[in-house]
Amino acid sequence: MRTKIAGIGHYVPEKRISNQDLTQYMDTSDEWIQERTGIQERRYAENHKETTTTLGTRAAEIAIEKAGIDKNDIDFIIFATLSADYFFPGCGVLLQRELGITKTEIGALDIRNQCSGFIYGLSVADQFIKSGMYKNILLVGAEMHSMGLDFSTEGRGVTVIFGDGAGAVVLQPTLEEGKGVLTTHLHSDGTHAEELAMINPGSHGGYHGNKEKYGFKEDDHPGGIFATQTMLDDNLFAPNMNGQLVFKKAVQKFPEVIHEALKATNLNTTDIDLLIPHQANLRISAFVQKSLGLEDHQVFNNIQKYGNTTAASIPIALSEAMKEGKVKENDLLCLAAFGSGFTWGSALIRM
Ligand code: ACO
Repeated sequence: MRTKIAGIGHYVPEKRISNQDLTQYMDTSDEWIQERTGIQERRYAENHKETTTTLGTRAAEIAIEKAGIDKNDIDFIIFATLSADYFFPGCGVLLQRELGITKTEIGALDIRNQCSGFIYGLSVADQFIKSGMYKNILLVGAEMHSMGLDFSTEGRGVTVIFGDGAGAVVLQPTLEEGKGVLTTHLHSDGTHAEELAMINPGSHGGYHGNKEKYGFKEDDHPGGIFATQTMLDDNLFAPNMNGQLVFKKAVQKFPEVIHEALKATNLNTTDIDLLIPHQANLRISAFVQKSLGLEDHQVFNNIQKYGNTTAASIPIALSEAMKEGKVKENDLLCLAAFGSGFTWGSALIRM
């Protein structure tokens, strides 16, 4: 028995933000952004109306409809995001409520693996399905980055890259010969955890580095650790990224983990019908494509339209590729991601 994608859907907010639009907030340019990232525009959710959960719910409703099941048939929820509505509880239970299926009292699991969250979620779901535990798992990747980015010139290196959106799949068991999720591979290396991170707010108290750098005073008064006035005053609530290190690691780990999946299944790069890499940056995708020797028609990219939507990027891209007729019966799909942690992973799926 294997796991198959029974239904897929994606939802992106209506508001389009071009590179030119960003120049009203920060010192940047369309030319710089396109040249370094390939991004032309991204979507931003509507403040105070949409949240990561509501975006995820819209995508989930489409995936459920496409799977041809009733929402009450969902027997487990997995929600991957780095931009959760609340610090806790996670978006899994909020999505359950938003979908109106709280009466079923199914389990809801939250995944915090950033860019590789969808692949981590897929791998977990695959084990639950293969073991016979669940039959209709709803896996969602959703992000509302726009609410937490730094729109000053100081934050431009990160802010121009990210966008909002959501993708979802319904996963079911299949007995069809050779079909479904063939293999998944998950990795992490916490050595550089702070190099692509949002450190504050948090309970760390600056223990891993200079306390003052992270907005803490030298005292042992209880409380006042999670969020401090200094953090607010010094604009320390924004994500930070060491872009060059991320680039260097990403172009190494993407090919490595794809080769690992191919080796595990006795397949070759020529067998891949479509690679859907996490949409980190068009230059990273191009580098990965080149190092694997893949043709243009073997790789799907849509970062140009949506920016980097982190946990949502793979399901949005897969959903769009399917909508555009780029995925056919029996095709071999390769999904791969790399991101904050660092964490990375891959999956091969026979459609
Ligand atoms: N607009 C204009 N200028 C900018 C911007 C911007 N948005 N951001 C940075 N700059 C400036 C810098 O201030 C710097 O100016 P200086 O030379 O006067 O000091 C100059 O551009 C070069 O900055 P670098 O950070 O060295 O630029 P780099 O060539 O490394 O490009 C980038 C930055 C695009 C982030 C690159 O490092 C990269 O592609 N890294 C990969 C990271 C990535 O894609 N992350 C995606 C999210 S993580 C993930 O999904 C895995």
